[in-house]
Amino acid sequence: MVKSKPSQSPFSGYPVYKLFLILIYLIVLVEAVTVSGSDSPSPYAWPSHASKKLNKPVVLLISSDGFRFGYQFKTETPNIDLLISRGTEAQTGLIPVFPTMTFPNHYSIATGLYPAYHGIIMNKFTDPITGEFYNKNLDPKWWLGEPLWVTAVNQGLKAATVYWPGSEVPKGSWTCPTGFCKAPYNVSFPLEERVDTILSYFDLPESEIPDFMTLYLDEPDIQGHKYGPDDPRITEAVAKVDKMIGRVIKGLKKRKVFSDVHVILLGDHGMVTNCDKKVIYIDDLADWIKVPVDWIQAYFPVLAINPRWGKDVENPDEKNMELVAKMNEALSSGKVENGEFLKVYFKEKLPKRLHYSESSRIPPIIGMVGEGLMVKQNRTNVQECFGNHGYDNMFFSMRSIFIGHGPRFRRGKKVPSFENVQVYNVVVEILGLRPAPNNGSSLFTQSILLPFGATRET
Ligand SMILES: *[C@@H]1O[C@H](CO)[C@@H](O)[C@H](O)[C@H]1NC(C)=O
Ligand SMILES: *[C@@H]1O[C@H](CO)[C@@H](O)[C@H](O)[C@H]1NC(C)=O
Ligand SMILES: *[C@@H]1O[C@H](CO)[C@@H](O)[C@H](O)[C@H]1NC(C)=O
Ligand SMILES: [Zn+2]
Repeated sequence: MVKSKPSQSPFSGYPVYKLFLILIYLIVLVEAVTVSGSDSPSPYAWPSHASKKLNKPVVLLISSDGFRFGYQFKTETPNIDLLISRGTEAQTGLIPVFPTMTFPNHYSIATGLYPAYHGIIMNKFTDPITGEFYNKNLDPKWWLGEPLWVTAVNQGLKAATVYWPGSEVPKGSWTCPTGFCKAPYNVSFPLEERVDTILSYFDLPESEIPDFMTLYLDEPDIQGHKYGPDDPRITEAVAKVDKMIGRVIKGLKKRKVFSDVHVILLGDHGMVTNCDKKVIYIDDLADWIKVPVDWIQAYFPVLAINPRWGKDVENPDEKNMELVAKMNEALSSGKVENGEFLKVYFKEKLPKRLHYSESSRIPPIIGMVGEGLMVKQNRTNVQECFGNHGYDNMFFSMRSIFIGHGPRFRRGKKVPSFENVQVYNVVVEILGLRPAPNNGSSLFTQSILLPFGATRET
């Protein structure tokens, strides 16, 4: 800081050019103070060394569940805009993994693995081999791969989680420690308090501040499911999320660490409306093939069929093949309502880009459902109108957002869309850790991060 000399005539004896330099310095200082007190984007900022308070890299990974790409244009989002204008953004959004569901995607973000390799292949499923039912269980046997909090603590860093699917599961050196791992998940725990829990970690002595933190916000997903993506209540939920981001920024600024912390804001998937009521009824396929109801593990957004042929069936593979062929014949016949919007595959024959075959937990037969469509057994079910996700990750409506802000992220930089399995390596690189085997590319980090030790351009 500027220290004025204790002399009666402070400028006497100073060469004119020094006075000039002091003047410039004061102007810069005034600009910087003005800017740091406002939330509006500005080309001015502290030189990175001037505010450096943390002497270690810290990553705060924030997920806003169901934040569809484009929601940021629904309403004023000054805080998200600030992160975008001073950080790096996936210009057309973050691409989720298939199936575009909450648990598979959060765990792909955390591990860098596609669901077939991290084991959480859907939010709920029955293991076709063991017959065991998974429904967000915390038994470590379900959770394969190595999530970021485990990578961090295994290599001697500190981690803290204010919720994240999988974070309560003990694994490696991670025990989900009290005070640094909120558990069990409590949907009623207010978003403000989640943010404040994170902020409280920054009041610890530097050596105890967690190097890696997660913050999970369950909006706007909840409103999205209830009302679909185009309801005014979504707009409100988006504004609420922006307020929470504002609370994070304000709290970090108050502690003078905002420019030192790497804040990553992303979402797990998008949202699409089911309100146009396009439905495919499995019973309509009965003239071609009858699929026993208890073989169907899930109807939509992913149709999952686990055939259980009797002992008398000699060649189940052949029977499976017949089933798939008959179903597709019916669906493409033009005689099944909306049949053209469902295509059935052996999991091994699914498009490669989905990476959805190499797990014994994935049922043998998978149906890809058209964007926003529903699959039901019969017409007896009540008609609903709501929002959903889980569909093909190629659909733009399934995309979410990615914004990185902090010393290693370029200012005002736009990068092309990328898959969320890349995020693991990005965090690992910022923290200076060794990555576990994963499906991200080690080269990707170079395209999104400044080299270590580089001075961030202003
Ligand atoms: C969940 O959070 C709410 C609000 O903080 C609290 O009242 C409630 O007791 C919590 N429930 C559990 C099971 O901890
Ligand atoms: C319709 O399907 C549901 C399962 O989705 C089943 O429980 C019910 O018995 C079926 N009704 C008829 C009339 O087949
Ligand atoms: C994903 O990563 C796992 C672990 O390294 C590897 O076994 C698997 O082959 C990878 N899959 C793809 C599609 O890259
Ligand atoms: Zn979700």
